[in-house]
Formats: sequence, C-alpha cells, structure tokens
Amino acid sequence: MCGIVAGVAQRNVVPILIEGLKRLEYRGYDSAGLAVINGGEIFRKRELGKVKGLEALIAADPIEGRIGIAHTRWATHGKPSTRNAHPHVSKDRVAVVHNGIIENHDHLRAALQENGYVFTSETDTEVIVHKVAEELKAAGNLLDAVGKTVKSLRGAYALGVIDCEQPDVLVACRKGSPLVIGIGIGEYFIASDIAALLPVTQRFIFLEDGDVAELTINGVTIFDEAGRRVVRPVIESQLKADSVDKGKYRHYMLKEIYEQAWAVSETLEGRFIDNRLQDNAFGHNAADVFDQIKSVLILACGTSYHSGLVARYWFEKYARVPCAIEIASEFRYRNPVVAPDTLVVTISQSGETADTLAALQEAKKLGVKHSLVICNAPESSLVRESELVLMTRAGPEIGVASTKAFTTQLVALLMLIIVVGRRFDLSAEKEEHIVSQLFALPGNIEKVLKLDNAIELLSQRFADKHNALFLGRGTHYPIAMEGALKLKEISYIHAEAYPAGELKHGPLALIDAEMPVVTVAPNNNLLEKLKSNIQEVSARGGQLIVFMDEDLAESDAADENVQIVKMPSVANAISPVIYTIPLQLLSYHVAVLKGTDVDQPRNLAKSVTVE
Ligand code: G6P
Repeated sequence: MCGIVAGVAQRNVVPILIEGLKRLEYRGYDSAGLAVINGGEIFRKRELGKVKGLEALIAADPIEGRIGIAHTRWATHGKPSTRNAHPHVSKDRVAVVHNGIIENHDHLRAALQENGYVFTSETDTEVIVHKVAEELKAAGNLLDAVGKTVKSLRGAYALGVIDCEQPDVLVACRKGSPLVIGIGIGEYFIASDIAALLPVTQRFIFLEDGDVAELTINGVTIFDEAGRRVVRPVIESQLKADSVDKGKYRHYMLKEIYEQAWAVSETLEGRFIDNRLQDNAFGHNAADVFDQIKSVLILACGTSYHSGLVARYWFEKYARVPCAIEIASEFRYRNPVVAPDTLVVTISQSGETADTLAALQEAKKLGVKHSLVICNAPESSLVRESELVLMTRAGPEIGVASTKAFTTQLVALLMLIIVVGRRFDLSAEKEEHIVSQLFALPGNIEKVLKLDNAIELLSQRFADKHNALFLGRGTHYPIAMEGALKLKEISYIHAEAYPAGELKHGPLALIDAEMPVVTVAPNNNLLEKLKSNIQEVSARGGQLIVFMDEDLAESDAADENVQIVKMPSVANAISPVIYTIPLQLLSYHVAVLKGTDVDQPRNLAKSVTVE
C-alpha cells in the first residue's frame, strides 16, 4: 500500500503535493515521486527513500505545474528503487499513481508487450499506465480511457491519472483502496486520506467502490461502476491541519505515549450521564442491537488484535458474554461458522486495514446481522461499513507503532463490555466499579508516565541484545504480546511473548544471561503462579525485568537476577492499560539507543490497505 495525492488548480500544485505526501508517509516511505504537466509536457521526479529526499531533489532542480500527481510507496511488486517509484509514464504522454495491487498484471503485461509497450519497472502499476495509453487510441478522452482500463483490472486500486494532451483534466478512481476528493475554491484534489489535504480544504467527497471521477478547475464529475453519473455527498471534516505536529517531542511516538491520559479522557467524554454509560454512544439504534445479540466475535489485525484479546478475557470474566476473537486475515479465508445473532466487532486504528475490512464483509456474507467498529478514523471505510460505531478519539496517530490508539481501544472495549454485559451477567456493582476505574485511568496514566526516566535507564540493558522474552498471564498475556510487538517493530530486536505458564513447555530452553525476560506482574489472582514462573527463569540465570505493583513487598520476587519496576497500584479492571505504558516507553528508549527510525521503522507502514 502507498499514499497518493494529486490536484488540478490555478496555482502551482507542487508544494501542496509535497506536503500531502509527507502527511501520507504513514502509508509507506520507501520511495516517492511526483509528475506535473507544464507546456503540454510531463515533468517527473522520483527518489528512493522518504519524501524529504524528493523534496530536496525538486528544490535543487524545480518543476512546477497546475496539475500534478504524487506518490509515496510501500513496495509490493518490485523492490524499492527509483525505477519502481511512481508516477509511471507511458509514451511520454500519460502518467499514473496507484495504491493497491493488480492481481492480473502478468497477463496484461504480456498483451501490452505484444503491442509494443516497453516496461521499465517491475511494478504491477506499469500495466495500468500502458493500458490507459492503449485505450486512449480509441477513446475520445482520458475519462473514457481510464473507465475502459479499469474494467480489465483485477485486484485493488486507487488511481490518479493525467494526460499531457488534456492538460486540464485529472482522472481518479477507486476500487478496494481508499480515495477522497478534496474540494477547494476553483481547485480540486484527490488523496488516500483527508489528512493529506487538510492544509488546502476541509470539504471532502468519499468515492465509492467502482467510482470514476473527472476533476478540472471547474468541478468534479463522478460516475459509478455502471457508468451512471452520480452525486456523492460533500462532507465537512472537523480535523485541523495542525493536529499532526510533533510539538516539543523528539518523535511522534513519544508524543503519542504522553498523550494517552488526554486521549483516554476524550474517549470517555460525553458518553456518560450521571456516571451511566449511554447505549446511544454506540449509535442511535445501539440499544436494539445489543438486545438481540447472543455472542461477540472480534476481528482485527496487529496491535488492534491485541486489544481484542484483552477484551475476550473481560467479556467472559465480567459479564459471561461468549466472546471469540480471530486475526482478520485468517478469518476471511477460513470458511468459519458464525451465528447470525453474533455481534461482529472490528477494531482498527485506521479503519482502512484491508484484511479487517474484508473480514467484516465476509462475516456479513455469512449472515451476521450486526456489526460494530471501534475505530480512530471518523471517515474511514470500516466506520462507513459498520452498523454501530464507537470512536476512540485518540487524535491522529502518526508513529507507525501504535500506542495511544491501543490504550483507547482498551477503554472503548471496556465501555462495550458495560453496555453488552448489562444484558448478560454484569451486575450493577461491577458496572459501577468499572466506570469508577475508567474515570481514574487518566490520573493513573500520568503517574505511570513518571517512570519514564527509570525506564530509559533500564533500556540500556537491551541495546546490545538480539532477543527478548515477554511474559504475562490472563489479561496481561496480550499486554506482553503487545510489548513484544512494540520492541520488534521499532528496535528490530526479536521479541516473543508467552503466557508465563507455558514457559516450561519449551521457551525455558532459551534462557541465559543474554535473554532479557520482561514480566508483567500486576497484583491479581495469578500473581502467585507468576512468581513461580519468575523463579524458574531466575534459577536458570535469566535476566528478569519485572513490572510489579508498588504495594507488594520487593522480597517477593527479589533476586540478584531480578530488576523490579514499581508500578502504581491500580484495580484489575484497568491494569492492562496501565501496564502497557512502561512497555511502550521501554521499546521507545531501546529504539532511540539503537538509532533506528522510531516513527517510521523499516519495512512497515501504518495503514495496511493491501492484503
Ligand atoms: C499495521 C500497523 C499496526 C496496526 C495494524 C492494524 O500493521 O503498523 O500498528 O496495529 O496495521 O491496523 P489498524 O489500523 O487496523 O488498527
């Protein structure tokens, strides 16, 4: 997946497109490129690496134009290289930027090569640009040529296309990959998301699957998949252009870790009346839906999947609600059996994760009647395709490694457990307890953030290590998984999480002085069991870092191999949120020590809109 931004205006669009690309780098950042039409000719610049490289290239040898397309890439077909960077050009006439994957590119390439088209990249995208050039021979205009081209494509795409023989026209279309149109005054833009265009407009049209649009300085015309002219609603976004600033922090990730108390407060805000959580916080018909459901199925990927794993424990423990969870990419191809009265809950920071979206669609195909999304991106595809919605209101999350999105997902899930649980076995007392703990969360998050300096010191123990183990039990096993994921994502240290009880079934063989073992040990009913597991590691020379309740006697786990970090004492209901934070800080500091690219780690992207 990649980011695309393009525009047609009465001014030079290059600075707008460069700014848009920077805002889209979360979608990929291995190479970037831009093409404009000027004087009836295409001018193109491409550079390996991040957008700032492209920016420097253009600063050194400027290009400008009133119509242009731009792209930041996350390689799927063909390695990161200048040659494979978009835009791709055919016959010096047509230029294309593409987000998505064309599955039948081999077949199309062979046919185009027979017709004399020469391929200069290894990308699937290049077939599109040559195909448009081919179709232009017969079609009267770019719109028709693109319309014909997309009929031959199998897979997913969002496209921006320009033709130097029609220098006033930008054609855009989407199927399976996101694309919005930004409406300015006498200028129109397209982008993979609205954040890319916030500096120029707050008014947007969301294209639907199969739509093809023609943009000129006089307006936008949209056609649906069947070729009918359609009018799509214009939506006013509440987001502001400056909401993605790094502020006083060195990295977005650190800023986002520190924003968590605020983000949790925002997520709770306005959803309770006299301390009672309102059903309609989830949508106007939420009460009806909750009355009908008999079980919950959670579908998500990555960090969002980990929040769902915690929620499964909570659903069962607090409310005796049957709850299953599955990684979305597995669910969609498993041919699962799902009862129609299941509530399918998708969890997604971006709301655009292709596998999660496809899993939701699969669940609907299987006859599931009700869906709910927990999401951080208000205008995203998952929000639009779900019946009920609970927004996490964490604000834009820029760091590729998810932090505040995760903790606010946990908060949202506790809220969901309250409203669903009321219809099952959640007592009024338990509900009251959970609500009071939710409101205590921001203060406790502030307390735990005070451990930052101590954790920074601790991080030195990891900088020269190649592996780490994370242990937890119960609701804190998924927290250990999330800790391990954070460490590997940004420090490139191999890290694995285990439920501590599973140690003796294999992982103990790995223990030696070179293997730091991070243990999440809150004060709960599993603590005694966990202490035995800690002893098992310590007795074999393992180096333990134990995050433990400050009220517990240190001697409980004390040992020369054990380093204890005292955590604020909190109730079980919120301790998974609290114990997540030191693990985020630990990964952050290890990554900084190792000098990795914290906000944009290698090979990853924030929003994964391809399979
Ligand atoms: C990518 C991101 C992860 C994220 C996952 C799911 O892999 O790098 O941070 O957890 O996608 O994304 P979602 O937007 O659906 O939560």
